[in-house]
Amino acid sequence: MSKVNRLLEAEHIPSSLWDSANETLFLPASLTEAYEKLIDKYGLRNLSSERKPDDPPVGGITQKRTDQYFAQAFDGSVARAQLALLDPKCDLASTSNTCLSSIAGNRVSITDAPCGPGAAAFSFLSNIAELRAHDALPREPLDVLLIGAELSEPARKYANELFLELQPSLEKQAIFVISEFISWDVTNALSNTDLIKKMTHASNENPNQLLIVANFNSFLERPEKRKEAEPQLNELFRHASGPKSVAIWIEPNMNRAINEGGLFPWLRKKIATAWKMFAKEKTTTTAPILESSAQFECLLHLGAARVGLAVMPINLERNT
Ligand SMILES: C[S@@+](CC[C@H](N)C(=O)[O-])C[C@H]1O[C@@H](n2cnc3c(N)ncnc32)[C@H](O)[C@@H]1O
Repeated sequence: MSKVNRLLEAEHIPSSLWDSANETLFLPASLTEAYEKLIDKYGLRNLSSERKPDDPPVGGITQKRTDQYFAQAFDGSVARAQLALLDPKCDLASTSNTCLSSIAGNRVSITDAPCGPGAAAFSFLSNIAELRAHDALPREPLDVLLIGAELSEPARKYANELFLELQPSLEKQAIFVISEFISWDVTNALSNTDLIKKMTHASNENPNQLLIVANFNSFLERPEKRKEAEPQLNELFRHASGPKSVAIWIEPNMNRAINEGGLFPWLRKKIATAWKMFAKEKTTTTAPILESSAQFECLLHLGAARVGLAVMPINLERNT
């Protein structure tokens, strides 16, 4: 792999986020505190400690499935997004640069879909804040328009409450976020149109666009669901493309996501065919499938766990 000039050198990652000797991630303290408050507010500590690492919940539309996901899998999702953003082991080529270059300017529109309780977007924002607090990134005012799109109403509620808890710590690091968590069903064309309208409006204000899709394989690995979702995903990515647009697709590193017939090879085909207008001819270099893993400290002092990441940074830049 050719050497990448990194915007964030691995040795500049503060020890509050990464212990290089033990290859362990620590989730940002601001997000940890915000999360603990909500877990206690909704009485979810016991549920959290009943987690089964071999059978993690995948969320869903009901309160019960949302609670299970929030209590048992939220921290793993935060860690996975953190690993993609920081890439402390330098496994992921320019993935960290892809994320940081869109966020490091003065204005950015971020769409996190499906956002669940907000793990991926909040991981990015709270990590950036922590990097700024340690002078690992410049602390210039950053205006963010954040759209979280999600089917589950209880998950949108958690996302909104977490955001309100997190907001003061972001503002302390000059990150000013206006957020909206909207209903979105990837299988429904009209619902997708509503999301696209919001994204278009946001990109008129903040032309740098970052689209985050995290942990959607549990839903999209079912062939009938993938078929139902495909027209909407095509449309979403078409509209997300533009002169200053990138996307990042994050999944747990499991064979069923990265092997032939899995989600990522399927996405690659989309990029080469339906989305070829922004992939140009360099399909494999614009959308590589990259992998990393690390240990992370679970939230609520539940010990350490491993996070495996498969990621596709997708360049959506086009000038026409
Ligand atoms: C595994 S969670 C991932 C959430 C978040 N991206 C994260 O990393 O924590 C999958 C999410 O997809 C949502 N979902 C399920 N079906 C959906 C649909 N048809 N349209 C949009 N979101 C859906 C679920 O409610 C759940 O929040």
